[in-house]
Amino acid sequence: MNRIAICLLVVITLSPHAVGQEKSVRPGINKSFSEPDVGSFTERFEREGREVYDFRQEIIDSCGLRPGMIVADIGAGTGLFTRMLAPRVGETGRVYAVDISKEFVAHVTKTSQQEGYKNVKGIVCTPTSAELPDNSIDLVFICDTYHHFEFPYRTLRSLRRALRPDGSIVLVEFHREKGKSSEWIMNHVRAGKETFQREIELAGFEVDEEKDFMEQSYWLRFRKTERTTSRGHTTDSIDDVIRLLANGTAALIDVREQAEWDGGHLQEASLLPLSEIRAGATNDGLSKSLQAKLPKTKIIYFHCRSGGRVLVATELLKTYGYDIRPLQSGFSALVRDGFEAAR
Ligand SMILES: C[S@@+](CC[C@H](N)C(=O)[O-])C[C@H]1O[C@@H](n2cnc3c(N)ncnc32)[C@H](O)[C@@H]1O
Repeated sequence: MNRIAICLLVVITLSPHAVGQEKSVRPGINKSFSEPDVGSFTERFEREGREVYDFRQEIIDSCGLRPGMIVADIGAGTGLFTRMLAPRVGETGRVYAVDISKEFVAHVTKTSQQEGYKNVKGIVCTPTSAELPDNSIDLVFICDTYHHFEFPYRTLRSLRRALRPDGSIVLVEFHREKGKSSEWIMNHVRAGKETFQREIELAGFEVDEEKDFMEQSYWLRFRKTERTTSRGHTTDSIDDVIRLLANGTAALIDVREQAEWDGGHLQEASLLPLSEIRAGATNDGLSKSLQAKLPKTKIIYFHCRSGGRVLVATELLKTYGYDIRPLQSGFSALVRDGFEAAR
């Protein structure tokens, strides 16, 4: 049995719910931010010796801010960066101070007003969505917060929707390197730069710029990108597909017809024939039965026999807001790659 088959088997046999449910990648990481003591967090976040505080000017200078820009400070915390961003974008611009903690959002809104910034708007978001208006943001700024995202794919998806086509994400995060990083970072931050970068890329972004002025943290800018080949198939690797199915971030749907499914199908897949998609996706909208079979909160990988019908199915559904990724590999190729065929 090859590596992929073993990985799928472990997922199917040990954690059947993982396939159906997107799990928190770090349950409990935000416990201290529910009903936080804002005063003590201000002392902790806005003090000399915290690297991102010491380098706050360089961090903000590197963002390329201009008057009129619309910026979202995701995980604004006590507002250290919101209050630096506000004067840079000026009265014609806006800063959304976004946080899951209503206490932090209230504090940032109040302190921004006290400093005379009328362009700051607080948003209490959810652990799965930044709750920003669609197609409205020029820059998403995420400092010391990405490792607090419990549902990174869904949060990133909401950020991708909120960003304008030429918008970008600036990520400031801790390096996490065995033998180099402190024990606190090794325990607190769930993964290093390579993993976080890959997660963000898989959500539809590519690295555009990198700055190396800090020791413990990195500064990365991402831009939006379409992750497709010239024919329109996803460029996600089979390893990525396996991993995203395993942790419940993605679902696999077979768009071949019933007779082909009956002749053999993948254990991981569910059936939604192209004929049913054609009938259910009309000018009047999407039928209820299609809506029930297409998860809105997951990446949907379509596969067929040889990579043709997936493109038609994806095209038919493109205006409905799904994250559908057509696979070039068909049924037999996926079995060869290690996916389990149903018995
Ligand atoms: C370590 S603090 C960083 C605060 C600020 N960015 C700074 O660097 O000073 C992390 C913040 O992220 C917030 N947070 C955690 N998960 C979040 C999510 N999914 N969306 C938005 N904010 C989140 C927490 O409430 C907390 O305020």
